[in-house]
Amino acid sequence: MPVPREQFLSPVWRDGIFTNKVLFCTGGAGTICSMQVRAFVALGGNACIIGRNVEKTEKGAQDIATVRPGSKVIGLGNVDVRDPAALKAAADRCAKELGGIDFAIAGAAGNFLAPIAQLSANAFKTVMDIDAMGSFNTAKACLPHLVESAKKHTNTGGASPTGTGGRMIFVSASFHYVGKPMQGHVMAAKAAVDQISNSIAIEYGPYGITSNVITPGPIAGTEGMERLGRSDPESVRLSKKAIPLGRWGEVKEIADATVYLFSEAGSYMTGATMVIDGGQWRTSGAS
Ligand code: HXC
Repeated sequence: MPVPREQFLSPVWRDGIFTNKVLFCTGGAGTICSMQVRAFVALGGNACIIGRNVEKTEKGAQDIATVRPGSKVIGLGNVDVRDPAALKAAADRCAKELGGIDFAIAGAAGNFLAPIAQLSANAFKTVMDIDAMGSFNTAKACLPHLVESAKKHTNTGGASPTGTGGRMIFVSASFHYVGKPMQGHVMAAKAAVDQISNSIAIEYGPYGITSNVITPGPIAGTEGMERLGRSDPESVRLSKKAIPLGRWGEVKEIADATVYLFSEAGSYMTGATMVIDGGQWRTSGAS
């Protein structure tokens, strides 16, 4: 069943802004990342999504491709972001089959609720490996391709005849900005993710690359919210009450931010964090 466009994209964006551009996205079959990719493909781009589960990833790619007739969306399953060689092979294959990589999203993540007392060393390491090392591995696999793309694009803010390219987004979380129980492993991992992005912004800025972090807050209908146990009505009510905007976000609001960062409009933003959480973290994350 095709996802109605208004569910993943605001009507403010111009069709075709990503024509002939390629997006590489880890975790691309997940609830948030699949909408980021869908928005990109709807606006003219092609994409390669990466995941561990073959069936979920291939089906995810097929679903995304329905958004625009003629689009090319590849789903590469059996690729674990903890495996740098597999990731590099996937990035190189994407570039070969789709003609390069202009944009990358490091979106693969692992999360569960557990207090430090119940976290084994391997549990902590697992989340560090998926989130922090996985993001680093994604960047390392994609950066040579992004540098090639940036050479072709001016990223100056003016309307470039060739569009934009050479941009990277990391999907993070806001727990470590305020502190949250049972998320020590994720706080540590996402703090690392933020700094990987900042380092790339500094070191690759001279190549015309931009690198930014998107931090989704409580987004309705996502696996992350399920894992945080947000299902009973009282928990939902208290969660929304603690958010200045008084509601959970929509996946569309993360996809729109992604389009902004990849478009001409986002040309001077790098080394930044876009916290998209209705102001939740400003209230000390009380939810
Ligand atoms: C304590 C746990 C645990 C739990 C797993 N472990 N779940 N410890 N409490 N609930 C421990 C295991 O016992 C083991 O340690 C270690 O973690 C590794 O577990 P495995 O199952 O072997 O790891 P693996 O198969 O690699 O799976 C990784 C995973 C899994 C993170 C545990 O949940 C996963 O694959 N998740 C991917 C999808 C996901 O999490 N998406 C949510 C992203 S949302 P021992 O010592 O026993 O060997 C997000 C942001 C949310 O990140 C933001 C919302 C606002």
